[in-house]
Amino acid sequence: MLSWKTSRRVLLCVTGGIAAYKIPELVSRLRSRSCEVEIVLTKAAEAMVSPLVLGTLSGRRVWLQDDFFSSERGFEIPHICLAEWAEVVILAPCTANTAADLASGRGESLVSAIFLATRAPVLLFPAMNEHMYEHPATCQNLRLLEQRGVRIVEPEYGSLACGCEGKGRLPETSLILEEIAWALSPKRNLKGRRVLVTAGPTHEYLDPVRFLSNPSSGKMGLAMARTAWYRGAEVRLILGPVNTPGVLHGMEISFVVSALEMYEQVLDNLPWADCVVKAAAVGDYRAKARAEHKLKREKEETLSLSLAQNPDIAAEVGARKREDQLLIGFAAETNDLRENARSKMERKKLDAIIANDVLAPGCGFGSDTNEVRLIFRDGEASFSGSKEEVADAIWGSLTSRKML
Ligand SMILES: Cc1cc2nc3c(=O)[nH]c(=O)nc-3n(C[C@H](O)[C@H](O)[C@H](O)COP(=O)(O)O)c2cc1C
Repeated sequence: MLSWKTSRRVLLCVTGGIAAYKIPELVSRLRSRSCEVEIVLTKAAEAMVSPLVLGTLSGRRVWLQDDFFSSERGFEIPHICLAEWAEVVILAPCTANTAADLASGRGESLVSAIFLATRAPVLLFPAMNEHMYEHPATCQNLRLLEQRGVRIVEPEYGSLACGCEGKGRLPETSLILEEIAWALSPKRNLKGRRVLVTAGPTHEYLDPVRFLSNPSSGKMGLAMARTAWYRGAEVRLILGPVNTPGVLHGMEISFVVSALEMYEQVLDNLPWADCVVKAAAVGDYRAKARAEHKLKREKEETLSLSLAQNPDIAAEVGARKREDQLLIGFAAETNDLRENARSKMERKKLDAIIANDVLAPGCGFGSDTNEVRLIFRDGEASFSGSKEEVADAIWGSLTSRKML
């Protein structure tokens, strides 16, 4: 999630679902991302989660149903002031009952009156017993709300508080945070664009347990994918084997292991894409023949491997790309950064290349920060910061040049 330059105003409406017990963690994580959080509870939610805990974590009073008509309310007319204050309204968890209230346009509760009064985007996270979720009344209410512009984030499948297994769980806090980041994204200038991103290393197996690879964490490619989604793009990600990808949300993902698998996936998805970002660190060579069983230590002191060259994905994409497609590459260099990057851009027919010196402090493999040079045929720009900040700045630069 991008770190906000200024605090953002999140109005969190908690309704009477059992998953309300997870909300304190969400509040605490929003606060650590410098969001201001106002919290409103329905009467039923008061039975599920402590207002004292929520108020302590948000650093503010918590609004209860009784405050709707209270004369000691602080805000002038609570539902109007809260509705106008919010930059985004979150309903999490949202009960079947509240979804029905919202769909029917009732304003009897503080939460439903806020919903009617706000102009901010609304994110709704239904969470309930599977049968309640599948009930035609609930389905119809959620569909109607979606048609009216509410973003409905489907619950997850898993074990439910009622003891059964099914679709109805409130998604993980990290996923809710991703949705909030998406809703608060200041720019949607990639809306309607299809972005294909490759990320991570490849593993070229020598035998069933050993492989050739590199230390790519995939973080820069993941940041490119995530920030494209924040800006409204449709995103497909082709991801090599990474250890801690973080929450993967908002995009279609193909998991691959080897360079050959990545090659196939990229070429399959190429006709779909308006823009291809090649951030994966793809192995140049693979074993000529992969051993069927684990290689054993031999008497000889040395072992020679026979390797075959992998296809050059970027060059193949460069050769096949249409006039209207944009191709962006990465160059991880250890010397002569600009010259090497420019030569790679020419050889592989890239429209732009993002070059970084992987040996510089705070840059390159595994690090959370980066310092890059974005090189075009007719110019350059430099960016530094967290990988997400750098990725977002790259999209900003590409869109302001009207390349996308
Ligand atoms: C222990 C318990 C857990 C509940 N969990 C849920 C739930 O997860 N989802 C749901 O839609 N309703 C759940 N309910 C039912 C709601 O609390 C009930 O429909 C209530 O009227 C909702 O009020 P509200 O929408 O104003 O918060 C639960 C009820 C109880 C007693």
